[in-house]
Amino acid sequence: MGYFDEKEILLNVHDLHVSFPLTEGTVRAVTGVDLQVCRGEVLGLVGESGCGKSVTAQSIMRIIDEPGRIEKGSIELLCSDGSVVDVASLKPNDPRLRQIRGAEVSMIFQEPMSSFAPVYTIGKQLMEAVMAHTDVSKREAKEIVVDLLDRVGIPKAAKRVDE
Ligand SMILES: Nc1ncnc2c1ncn2[C@@H]1O[C@H](COP(=O)(O)OP(=O)(O)OP(=O)(O)O)[C@@H](O)[C@H]1O
Ligand SMILES: [Mg+2]
Repeated sequence: MGYFDEKEILLNVHDLHVSFPLTEGTVRAVTGVDLQVCRGEVLGLVGESGCGKSVTAQSIMRIIDEPGRIEKGSIELLCSDGSVVDVASLKPNDPRLRQIRGAEVSMIFQEPMSSFAPVYTIGKQLMEAVMAHTDVSKREAKEIVVDLLDRVGIPKAAKRVDE
């Protein structure tokens, strides 16, 4: 394989172990996951209910529910500034996690009815992520959001943002 054929690894999960220590006993949710995602690649995780797909994804975002914790392994992420961060080793309050979430890695949650707040408009919830990571004005953020909705094929995007 020549130099230009080398794949650029964006995400490298190695030997990931995640457990939930409960009073009834410890749930070993993830036991030794290895995976890599290269630039331009789409990776699907397939497996029976409860096998650890969501907990693996939550680990990458570092949003595992209490008392769950990463016991072992690394989650190396190539960030857009060229740095590689081991997300698994960061403290929960590390400011780098706020930069990563929503900018480098995002998650589309399984249950839209419970993961979106019904009191906020679609536009407001999407604009929040744009404004948290860029210094655009509210108006520009809204334009970006309308454009994004339009690009993914949402009909009448300019109207939808206010619903
Ligand atoms: N907050 C939690 N507290 C205790 N155990 C948990 C918690 N979240 C997940 N688990 C356990 O971790 C294991 C993996 O769950 P996970 O939600 O990752 O499964 P999944 O592969 O995403 O399943 P599904 O296909 O149903 O979405 C399961 O045994 C589950 O019961
Ligand atoms: Mg799941």
